Amino acid sequence: MIDTAKLDAVMSRCPVMPVLVVNDVAQARPMAEALVAGGLSTLEVTLRTPCALEVIEEMSKVPGALVGAGTVLNPSDMDRAVKAGARFIVSPGLTEALVKASIAHDVPFLPGVANAGDIMRGLDLGLSRFKFFPAVTNGGIPALKSLASVFGSNVRFCPTGGITEESAPEWLALPTVSCVGGSWVTAGAFDADNIRQRATAAALLKV
Ligand code: 3PG
Repeated sequence: MIDTAKLDAVMSRCPVMPVLVVNDVAQARPMAEALVAGGLSTLEVTLRTPCALEVIEEMSKVPGALVGAGTVLNPSDMDRAVKAGARFIVSPGLTEALVKASIAHDVPFLPGVANAGDIMRGLDLGLSRFKFFPAVTNGGIPALKSLASVFGSNVRFCPTGGITEESAPEWLALPTVSCVGGSWVTAGAFDADNIRQRATAAALLKV
């Protein structure tokens, strides 16, 4: 069964979900500590680097961190992520195989949608929470407003892709947006102090 309340709890913890692409496992703990210290504790570790599963394991040891896996493309990715300790799963798109696997694992699953057809397939499968991806390329705020007007307030989103510290507040002001995702908080050369500062600013943004 799809547990929407469990997914809502993940999405509503923080206004911004950092999307993390970590190439060096040694950075995992200090990066997660800096994010949590700044107030961002819901961390999406993308499976885009060879050490991503180890990064999930390391970040999961940081008190207060809720670590999930992103860029999960198929059930075998999901199996590996859950075994590594991922407590929620994000994917760039929606497949029935992933929805079934998330039910089997009883893990909150946030799939990407780009248009009305994607959302309708999700609704048919019992989902009502989606990552709007890639948010800016897909038409940005006007596009999400148009989709929201069709599907109503029971369908909620985490827009991701092209969102910045400057544009995040406008997205977060939309009534159907629970949080936004973005890589800006950790972008650039690793610098724990700087990450903590950016996280602090992001955590203060209002939903
Ligand atoms: C994602 O994986 O969700 C996106 O790559 C994040 O997009 P951004 O880098 O534009 O924030």
